[in-house]
Amino acid sequence: MSPSPDLLAELLELAKEAAIRAGSLLRDGRPADLGVAATKSSPVDVVTEMDLASEKLILELIGERRPADGYLGEEGAERNGTSGVRWVVDPLDGTVNYLYGLHNWAVSVAAELDGRAVVGVVYAPARGELFHAVLGGGAYLDGHPVSCRPAPPWGQALVSTGFNYVQSVRVRQAEVLLHLMPEFRDIRRGGAAAVDLCDLAAGRVDGYFERGLAPWDRAAGVLIAREAGALAGGRPGQEPDGDLTVAAPPGLFEQLQQRLDEIGAWRD
Ligand code: IPD
Ligand code: CA
Ligand code: CA
Repeated sequence: MSPSPDLLAELLELAKEAAIRAGSLLRDGRPADLGVAATKSSPVDVVTEMDLASEKLILELIGERRPADGYLGEEGAERNGTSGVRWVVDPLDGTVNYLYGLHNWAVSVAAELDGRAVVGVVYAPARGELFHAVLGGGAYLDGHPVSCRPAPPWGQALVSTGFNYVQSVRVRQAEVLLHLMPEFRDIRRGGAAAVDLCDLAAGRVDGYFERGLAPWDRAAGVLIAREAGALAGGRPGQEPDGDLTVAAPPGLFEQLQQRLDEIGAWRD
């Protein structure tokens, strides 16, 4: 059964409000000397505090407005709901960029209905950009429709990716790039998976892939990329999962997914 337009509108408004409030908290609450702290005591703790404060704000807001919904957040918040709606939230995606004062970081808020993402919002305050999508309704940047670039020839593709925090996975990710770097136009590593997927949606790169993403990294971004015309999947025939997330417009997607599978980009 398709979700009612009223429900989708309500979820979208709440997702936007949560992302904007949490993003503003992160932007305004970022200590001015965080860059200095990075070379001193324990900058990671400062960032962890901000992650947690962002998650708390979002969890409380959603709990107040829609107490029967489920919730899954990166910082440990998990709640089973009874309404069929579950929120999947990364309260700060791009933590390392945030720590260093780079602009690619965001709050990512998705609402799933019966296990399928129906609303996605990615707010990147330092870039002043708000992306959103509703299932079947297209993708938007600051209220204006966006769409992926048409697929380029393989050798002219600009493809973004990301690297896992686990060392053994990173070594393997570097090996995968040894195969791909000479084949593509170039590679980008933005540092925030949710923003990478939105940049694909806005036609700023041709494709994106990453091994090891968690549901909160990709839930909103994959919906936004798909609504902008991208195809998204995991290994051939699979949905995006922890092994692999691949997204690109038709024509490039199939080649990219196939090539990543040949190289074994999803395994040690
Ligand atoms: C990370 C970022 C990064 C990606 C990592 C993620 P975090 O999320 O999205 O771009 O490469 O796989 O874990 O830790 O900044 O929320
Ligand atoms: Ca993340
Ligand atoms: Ca995070």
